Amino acid sequence: MSTSEKVRVAVVGAGRWAQVAHIPGWQREPRAEVVALADTDAEVAGAVAAKFSVPRAITDYRELLDDPGIDVVDVVTGNQPHFQISWDALSAGKHVLCEKPVHTDYRKTREAAALAATRGLRTKLGFTFRYAPAIRYAKDLIDSGFVGEPYIFNGFEQNSQWIDPATPLRQFDPEDDPAQIAVSSIEGYGAPIIDIMHWWLGVPLTAVVGAMRNFVPARVIRDTGRMTRANIDDGDMWIAEFGRDILASIQSSYVTVGNYPGIEARLYGSEGAVIVRLVDEFGICQTIKTARKDAVEFVEEQIPDRYFPPGGHSGEPWEFLFYSGLVSDFTAEILDGGRPGQGDFAQGALVQETINAFEESFRRRAWVDFPLGAEPAAQ
Ligand SMILES: NC(=O)c1ccc[n+]([C@@H]2O[C@H](COP(=O)([O-])OP(=O)(O)OC[C@H]3O[C@@H](n4cnc5c(N)ncnc54)[C@H](O)[C@@H]3O)[C@@H](O)[C@H]2O)c1
Repeated sequence: MSTSEKVRVAVVGAGRWAQVAHIPGWQREPRAEVVALADTDAEVAGAVAAKFSVPRAITDYRELLDDPGIDVVDVVTGNQPHFQISWDALSAGKHVLCEKPVHTDYRKTREAAALAATRGLRTKLGFTFRYAPAIRYAKDLIDSGFVGEPYIFNGFEQNSQWIDPATPLRQFDPEDDPAQIAVSSIEGYGAPIIDIMHWWLGVPLTAVVGAMRNFVPARVIRDTGRMTRANIDDGDMWIAEFGRDILASIQSSYVTVGNYPGIEARLYGSEGAVIVRLVDEFGICQTIKTARKDAVEFVEEQIPDRYFPPGGHSGEPWEFLFYSGLVSDFTAEILDGGRPGQGDFAQGALVQETINAFEESFRRRAWVDFPLGAEPAAQ
């Protein structure tokens, strides 16, 4: 593809997240255009295509695969079909952006990363929050030595979106054994802060331990509309040991009082500390505070303009602001073959492997070494 051409995108899945984040994000990017929408619900596909002036609406994503007029398949369906659609699109030679998780088994995500690498294709995960201007600014501060030698990272992803049992929950598998807590919050909501932990620290994870809890025992399940015993992890806490003796903690929950998205990332080091808060409060969706060892009171920093899209600001809806950063970066990676990839399927596999290790430590009530044993994934 020449740099004068636009990246042509097909969005698969036209639900809420596609409408508030993916499609508006792509439409803000001058080097890309959304040329098709696919949703198994024909009415949704048609209505959303009309709303966003997308010229083509279909129900079966497979029609996109041998279409030479499509460069990128953007997978934003519910979780179940993520892997199959991504795999089919990569096999057909398309670049793929996929919502997390690509697969709940990190080995399958790694296989998809390897497929992309052998075919020279770009991948990206929906790690929305690494593209928050405050998070990217903090990363540059860390890389420039602001915190010195990193000591402790604390990551939180918590809000109260399911504190009310009457709010219908989407991610629940009725096949799960009710005697055993099923992974939920840490996988559905913890992934982005785990991504930021790995990205900011940049050294290998060596061991993990932690626990999950089910605080709200029964809740309404979206597919049935019925109040159901749902033994799921709606809150959890983990400790992680990294190389260079760094310690980290992760806490995720969707029954903890507070607003979306509820991300907080803190890094304390030998010279200073950085705290980023991505919580939509009083019309502002992000803040960054810093302190130094000789000036220990945290002060709020202004995020430089270069971290925002043209005209962008912290008063915009966070979904739109952060996602426009994500798709802009993906577009740049596709157009510039030499640009290193970030937040891709390989990173997604690392994040998923961390979640799988967390779960194993809870099941075994023990520390689990990292990386996990690399047996091939079940087919
Ligand atoms: N990264 C983030 O911060 C973030 C935030 C919210 C949601 N998400 C993820 O985005 C995804 C979509 O979430 P949502 O809230 O929009 O869900 P949703 O249920 O509102 O929409 C999903 C849409 O996908 C369609 N669909 C399902 N299977 C399909 C298939 N095989 N082909 C085409 N269309 C299909 C459905 O008909 C539905 O319209 C989920 O995986 C969710 O976890 C990520």
